[in-house]
Amino acid sequence: PSVLVLNGPNLNLLGTREPHIYGSETLDDIEVSCQETAARLGLDIDFRQSNHEGELVTWIQEARGEHDAILINAGAYSHTSIAILDALQAVDLPVVEVHLSNIFRREPFRHHSHVSTVARGVICGFGSHGYILALEAVARLIDAPGA
Ligand code: DQA
Repeated sequence: PSVLVLNGPNLNLLGTREPHIYGSETLDDIEVSCQETAARLGLDIDFRQSNHEGELVTWIQEARGEHDAILINAGAYSHTSIAILDALQAVDLPVVEVHLSNIFRREPFRHHSHVSTVARGVICGFGSHGYILALEAVARLIDAPGA
């Protein structure tokens, strides 16, 4: 089974971006630990990042037939993007949402996520470890061999 792991805007800055909130690991570090976890779970992952809403929409559209699930940290687009929500609804694959920070402990404008309205589940507040937890959840949802 194959999982599309999507990262939205500003996540390319991880490591230097507000490390007290997002941790000191870079997105490359997170990709490495996701690849290790995926191997253990018997999953293939396609790990991507974009700062562009439309590019994320296109990648979600293209996931149909290519991937079995989507793991997404849409960054700030989680709170604003109906286009990403529509694409996730259209593609009809299981979606798991992840956030590094606990969005409910933060500013009120981060408390609502459009992605959550279509996600099978949400993991937030555990930093980069959330990606591992989310991959384990995805593996169960799609019955991966190592789940
Ligand atoms: C984030 C939380 C969002 O509110 C923020 O805009 C981000 C990162 C997180 O992973 O904690 O860019 O998605």
